[in-house]
Amino acid sequence: MSDSPAVELGRLLRQLREFLAYQGRLGWLGVSAAGAPGTATACGEEAPAPAPRRPTLEEIRAEMGDCRRCKLWRTRTHLVFGEGSPTAALMFIGEGPGAEEDLQGRPFVGPAGQLLNNLLTKLGLRREEVYIANVVKSRPPGNREPEPDEIAACLPFLKKQIEAIQPRVIVTLGRVAAQALLDTATPLTKLRGTWQRYQGIPVMPTFHPSYLLRFPRERFKTWEDMQKVMEFLARHE
Ligand code: URA
Repeated sequence: MSDSPAVELGRLLRQLREFLAYQGRLGWLGVSAAGAPGTATACGEEAPAPAPRRPTLEEIRAEMGDCRRCKLWRTRTHLVFGEGSPTAALMFIGEGPGAEEDLQGRPFVGPAGQLLNNLLTKLGLRREEVYIANVVKSRPPGNREPEPDEIAACLPFLKKQIEAIQPRVIVTLGRVAAQALLDTATPLTKLRGTWQRYQGIPVMPTFHPSYLLRFPRERFKTWEDMQKVMEFLARHE
């Protein structure tokens, strides 16, 4: 004999409650087994709290504003936020703007940028389809390296950019970018050419193009690093 509608409804509600508790234990739906904050529904259950929306690149740029969070604002001409596809699979991260970048407000448009452009062309990539950013967004005077307090002030914005773009691979250019992003003091000689991870995203540290301008015989190493990157992207399309 089949159950009455009331019994059937009771069983369904019990199953639903067990299902929600199970999902809560898995960390889904924003519902915890103990009852995480959510929206109360008519039947008294907690509905899932909506996942917070990731800020867009425009919003991150707006948040930076006329940034004065470190001393570099005093000597810069333009803040260099970054450019490229907001949905890029591949993201490059340099150290900080040089003289030409400071004048134009765009990343990698000086001599190092020319070399990066050549590399992209040889890899069959267009600049517009990748994203290019730096650890610090204002030029360190005299092309010195950014100082720890300057990196600390700017790094949260780079991290937000990564979160907005969600690239499938990140390539760091030079020691400063690799060590800042990976939060390590390991020398670039050890990191270069080896897969690392930032928040689950594969990271390939390689040489900075400025270094490769000075030591052209090292270029084949960056070429090899980029082959690994391109193979990874092809395998994980
Ligand atoms: N070097 C960098 O690290 N970034 C630039 O944008 C230009 C040169």
